[in-house]
Amino acid sequence: MYIKDKDQVDEYIKYGHLKDKEPPASQLIIMPAFESRLSNSEILILKAYVLAVNYWGAPAKGEVAEGLDLVLRHGCFSCHGVAGSGGKTNPGSLTGYIPGWLGNDFKELVKNDDEFVEWVQKGTISRFENNAAARYFMKRQTIKMPAYKNILSKESISKLHAYINWQRIK
Ligand code: HEC
Repeated sequence: MYIKDKDQVDEYIKYGHLKDKEPPASQLIIMPAFESRLSNSEILILKAYVLAVNYWGAPAKGEVAEGLDLVLRHGCFSCHGVAGSGGKTNPGSLTGYIPGWLGNDFKELVKNDDEFVEWVQKGTISRFENNAAARYFMKRQTIKMPAYKNILSKESISKLHAYINWQRIK
């Protein structure tokens, strides 16, 4: 809530406050300055993390904003990672991790809008159900994609998709 511009994140990490705005002397707990302890590239990595977990840049209203709200309310990130970055361990699955929404995995797993709807409604897709090898790994994996068909309407699913597409083209 203190950040108006994304470069202010670097300032907080480096100086513990905005460059030209020292905290009041009366402030009991002050943020430490990390400038001398972290390299520039470490600061950039931290900045990227802070922006990602705060959904920096997401529109405040419209379909994409509503999609993000649904993603947060339905716990999608608890499996698919921060901003759908994927990579959480899933023993027994083909790759060993839960796929994300950002990289190439998504293109392989979601070929079109119908497959996206299928994934969210059924937790699987018929293309994989009809393939013995894919079926084997889907059954065996520890964490399974839940079926949201009784919880999410088609309209909500299309908002989820709008949010994911918006994330992907950035
Ligand atoms: C309990 C963990 C869990 C939750 C919660 C979850 N998913 Fe998944 N999801 C998975 C797993 C595991 C897969 C991979 C399934 C497979 O390969 O069989 C997956 C696959 C998918 C895919 C296929 C493509 C890809 O790259 O991820 C989409 C799309 C997807 N989930 C969307 C969602 C959405 C939207 C939500 C929230 C409404 C959600 N998931 C919630 C575990 C979860």
